[in-house]
Amino acid sequence: MGKKSNASTNKSKEKRQARKLEQRRIADGMNSVTSANKLTDLATLCRELLVYRNKDMEVDMFIQRVTELDKNVLDWAINLTEKNMKELYETCAWGWNPDRKVEEMTDDSAWYLVAKQKDKLLAFSHFRFDMDFGEPVLYCYEVQVEADGRRRGLGQRVLSVLEKLAHATRMRCVRLTALTHNPSASAFFRACGYSLDDTSPSIEEATHYEILSKATMESEGGTDPPIAS
Ligand SMILES: CC(C)(COP(=O)(O)OP(=O)(O)OC[C@H]1O[C@@H](n2cnc3c(N)ncnc32)[C@H](O)[C@@H]1OP(=O)(O)O)[C@@H](O)C(=O)NCCC(=O)NCCS
Repeated sequence: MGKKSNASTNKSKEKRQARKLEQRRIADGMNSVTSANKLTDLATLCRELLVYRNKDMEVDMFIQRVTELDKNVLDWAINLTEKNMKELYETCAWGWNPDRKVEEMTDDSAWYLVAKQKDKLLAFSHFRFDMDFGEPVLYCYEVQVEADGRRRGLGQRVLSVLEKLAHATRMRCVRLTALTHNPSASAFFRACGYSLDDTSPSIEEATHYEILSKATMESEGGTDPPIAS
């Protein structure tokens, strides 16, 4: 039978502790995601960013779950996505599948940030609080701006709202998938401080998309965020 040496007992102890820590980290992350998804009024976490003014535009933003979103607003978001993205999807391995896109955009876990100037809808983001590769993240599924609202800082403001929400709800980062053959989006995300995420596939695995992210202040070692309740 024999007896385990002290060194090997210590090693198994360390392994057990590491496993426990990892399980704890994942459980904490899942709790943060559950709490974020239970929030009833996300606007209270980012109120100061929801009015965007520059010299030629004044835009109001609101946030709703897809299940509460007005049907006309949802239809507009779906049409804008098709207008902006169809060709880009068609020219890569994904292809454009309108039913799949609608299914994704109407999933019960979807949240919408919508920007409008008076009655004109100008931009939106579809985002979710979710576990991704074992981490709690705010996943930005879509950021879309109407052609006549672009290059005025609106897209950047939309991302700032997402970043504030991610921090306030203890998400590790804002993460997104970007098509590599969409150079304006690539320039935009990089200008907003996004960089290649560790979970991005290698060139051998996929060439048409990449995963980008921006860490929240919390995961960069900043101050503790408010607790989402
Ligand atoms: C990409 C998109 C969201 C950017 O929104 P936007 O409101 O025009 O962006 P902003 O005005 O906030 O731009 C912020 C910065 O990003 C960079 N940027 C934005 N659009 C750019 C473009 N077409 N080319 C190069 N850089 C760009 C610039 O540095 C810009 O700052 P500047 O205007 O002072 O130079 C918008 O062009 C869009 O909806 N495109 C079609 C849909 C799409 O590709 N969505 C992203 C993938 S889901």
